[in-house]
Amino acid sequence: MSTDHRPFSPASERNRGPILDVLLQLLPPQGTALEIACGTGQHAAHFAPALPGWQWWPSDPQAEALQSTAAWCEGIGNVQPPLQLDVMSPDWTGVPSEVDLVFCANMIHISPWATTRALMQGTARHLRAGGLLLTYGPYFVQGEPPSPGNLAFDADLKQRNAAWGIRWLHEVQAEAAAAGLQLQRRFDMPANNLALAWGRPAT
Ligand SMILES: C[S@@+](CC[C@H](N)C(=O)[O-])C[C@H]1O[C@@H](n2cnc3c(N)ncnc32)[C@H](O)[C@@H]1O
Repeated sequence: MSTDHRPFSPASERNRGPILDVLLQLLPPQGTALEIACGTGQHAAHFAPALPGWQWWPSDPQAEALQSTAAWCEGIGNVQPPLQLDVMSPDWTGVPSEVDLVFCANMIHISPWATTRALMQGTARHLRAGGLLLTYGPYFVQGEPPSPGNLAFDADLKQRNAAWGIRWLHEVQAEAAAAGLQLQRRFDMPANNLALAWGRPAT
């Protein structure tokens, strides 16, 4: 009988490999990463060992997520103790003053719209010159027909919480631009998700 009581997200298990492929394409050998909305911690536990030159700081506002992440990441030397962080907090206490990567999967559509602005503004405060924000999740894109799966998912999200829902990419881009960030790379991912790399415009 299994004695492993760590919370488990099947979606994280499915998407962690494709997301890691993107990270390996984008990232230099060394750096400091802040993960926003780490959830169970399965992403941190998968990515950090594959990025040995990186220090990974997982964060989430929920105590259960922090406990789960600590359990998933136990014994992984380059994962820092999980930080309690709500992106809506006015200053991101405990976050290193400068990071090379902010990674945020599956928060933008499962939280009120205001968190998108807060994510962009906070990232802009902490991102080192040349650093990246990588967001992952479903988006609606102008001029591209939405998949039936994403339409159904959007309806389900809105039924669960009227403030949730799949966001329009151009609206996310507007929030990014207000924070001085622009979309630099788009990766089409399995199951109609996108991985989006954001950074400061080259000067
Ligand atoms: C669907 S889970 C995604 C977890 C993980 N990133 C993944 O992809 O499996 C959404 C996460 O967003 C977090 N979240 C919601 N609102 C947030 C906020 N205001 N600031 C930071 N994280 C938030 C939740 O606590 C939850 O862990």
